[in-house]
Amino acid sequence: MCGIVGYIGEKKAAPILLDGLSKLEYRGYDSAGIATIENGELSIEKCKGRLQNLCDKIQNGEALQGKIGIGHTRWATHGAPSDLNSHPHKCSQSLFTVVHNGIIENYLPLKEELTVHKHVPFVSETDTEVIAHLLSYYYNGNVLETIQRVINAVEGSFALGILCRDTPNTLYAVKKDSPLIVGKGNGENFIASDIPALLNYTKDFYLVDDGDIVMLKKDSLFFFDRKLHPLKKEPFVVDWDYSQAEKGGYAHFMLKEIHEQQKAVNDTVSERIGEEDIVFEDFHYGEDELKALHSIRIVACGSAYHVGVIGKYVIEKLARIPVEVDVASEFRYKNPILQKDVMYIMISQSGETADSLAAMREIRKQGYKVLAVVNVLGSSIAREADSVIYTHAGPEIAVATTKAFSAQLAVMDMLALKIAHVKETITKDAYKEALMTLRNIPARIETVVSNADKVKKLASRLKNVGSVFFIGRDIDYAVCLEGSLKLKEISYIHSEAYAAGELKHGTISLIEEGVVVVAIVTQPHVREKVISNIKEVKTRGAFVFAVANEGDEEIRDIVDFVYYIPKTNPVYTPSLSVLPLQVFAYCVAKEKGCDIDKPRNLAKSVTVE
Ligand code: M6R
Repeated sequence: MCGIVGYIGEKKAAPILLDGLSKLEYRGYDSAGIATIENGELSIEKCKGRLQNLCDKIQNGEALQGKIGIGHTRWATHGAPSDLNSHPHKCSQSLFTVVHNGIIENYLPLKEELTVHKHVPFVSETDTEVIAHLLSYYYNGNVLETIQRVINAVEGSFALGILCRDTPNTLYAVKKDSPLIVGKGNGENFIASDIPALLNYTKDFYLVDDGDIVMLKKDSLFFFDRKLHPLKKEPFVVDWDYSQAEKGGYAHFMLKEIHEQQKAVNDTVSERIGEEDIVFEDFHYGEDELKALHSIRIVACGSAYHVGVIGKYVIEKLARIPVEVDVASEFRYKNPILQKDVMYIMISQSGETADSLAAMREIRKQGYKVLAVVNVLGSSIAREADSVIYTHAGPEIAVATTKAFSAQLAVMDMLALKIAHVKETITKDAYKEALMTLRNIPARIETVVSNADKVKKLASRLKNVGSVFFIGRDIDYAVCLEGSLKLKEISYIHSEAYAAGELKHGTISLIEEGVVVVAIVTQPHVREKVISNIKEVKTRGAFVFAVANEGDEEIRDIVDFVYYIPKTNPVYTPSLSVLPLQVFAYCVAKEKGCDIDKPRNLAKSVTVE
């Protein structure tokens, strides 16, 4: 979703803003713009399309003067992608200029009021423009008080970068429910939506909390709460550099991240799995509490939701307690019935997904604690949760998640085992063996990923198909959900995931000559059943690509293409079976020439609902 960058310092702002925006491209956007102030003169340049269009228009920033500025990549919500709707937006007198990430829910009544009573002419269809005009309307000579008044008047979510022509040596920022960080440099300071935007300039960051207002000068930073009381904030140091967020020789971030899965899972499990036990750092559940759990409720969106569905199978199998999994956007509005002795888990890579954040707040509002499984350090969900298990996947840039997904799976596996151990639903020996299996998963991931090239040929053959169905039973079905999402989000091929036994109840009518079916066959207790389902679709002309356990030679004779994964305890196969599906989606999208890392209409971090 929209990306924000702001700069104040001794250097020319525009090239720094463009560079920062380029590091936020992964978030998804459809237009870009920047604004700077020089000698009291405001300059705004913005245009629809790729950031490169803007760079070309202003000679990579050289054409724009000024040592203070704000920049933005827009992901359209209110008004189509266009030059006019692009940010920054300014008030009529060019006094205030803003960039915004989020949605102003009451922008229409505010716009009407400003239009009818104050004769403000609006030039865009955006909700953001209202903020620029409101700032100007409320302005009393004190910018902080003006911002305070504006944030009290608007409803919704926002991270704002603000310039005021009256105070050309000060940059302002404020946030609520949309991500924003502050970077502290030497004689220069920054704001951004995300850390990678600023890693070329600083490693020292401050988190901005909801309602905080920030005043940045080139040599100093001031934080205030909503009542304008000064706040004391401690910076934190990031221990990774931008090279970790660069492609490092790979054609795409997604491919690089597919190859980083062994490390992501290893970093997530190795410190936590000991000889005898699994230890999570920020985990506030005592043994008695775990013993008393009568169910678990997992809430998430997209791929993180799929991790929840796989987690349900794993936890129910190992710990023998029922697990319910909810899509966050549904959960938050259904007046959920919550109970005690239930563990509430949120799963989110970004930790900023608007629906997940709202769902978590609902749970906490009802008085229940939340355990968050999050990748991004210091993100909103991580900060507000009662306990956090971080996935150590490192920065994930491609919109289609791969390594964070695998790291989340590893956390679910560890959690299931820990609860099973405490509840004594598995024997001590089985527990020890499982710990060993989990420790070995990263090596097996590496084996699968390094062989996954075999899928390439298949991808080139199947790139023009119209529809792909993913089928499987039990935990394999849960993996199908993810395989199907991966394929459709980056290759734009229609695909659906079905519990193989459900096909006969309607969907099989769509199977005809040339339709592709991807079948996962790793669960011994339902293997024969899936084989029957495969035969049913083969008879009707489907081309079948199977993912099966090494040694299952019979499958080879039944299907058109088989990808073997190393045999492991069936509960843990999702960590392996998902890998060829990720590579398949990647290769098909590549064959089709799709924009793999930034698929159309999608954003990495969905910070609006
Ligand atoms: O950051 P989150 O894990 O909360 O994001 C949830 C979904 O938006 C995300 O998993 C999305 O479905 C991915 N594009 C899938 O690849």
